[in-house]
Amino acid sequence: MRKPDVVCAEIPSRADAIANARELGEPEPGMLKWTRICRIDEIPRLGARVVRRGVAPNIAVFRTASDMFYALADRCPHRGGPLSQGIVYGERVACPLHNTNVELDSGCAVAPDKGRVQRFMVKVEADFVYVDLEIQADGNH
Ligand code: FES
Repeated sequence: MRKPDVVCAEIPSRADAIANARELGEPEPGMLKWTRICRIDEIPRLGARVVRRGVAPNIAVFRTASDMFYALADRCPHRGGPLSQGIVYGERVACPLHNTNVELDSGCAVAPDKGRVQRFMVKVEADFVYVDLEIQADGNH
């Protein structure tokens, strides 16, 4: 099986990463608690994997055709449909229930739909996908 090509952002220095996180209002790198989710090839391109969190909403980890990974709460901003079962295209997912389109990088519904889904920090390292299951990408718990 061919090893997937994974596109990763250039790794900034720790000082740059902290400065970037502060500028974006995101958690500082040292605060993140990474949980290993699965191997990269366990999430198909244009697919998703669900991470169950007990009483907290599940998290859907998406993989795009260009091997970018995103993690969003698995709840559509419209009526809570399972985004993990939606159709991934480009950098978006279309909800399977009523077709609300959600931007994977921001979690925002695409106009004319409204709303926003919680998003979580993701990293890919040594062929594995990691997610911080507690801290949302905007720094909220
Ligand atoms: S629940 Fe997702 S579009 Fe309605």
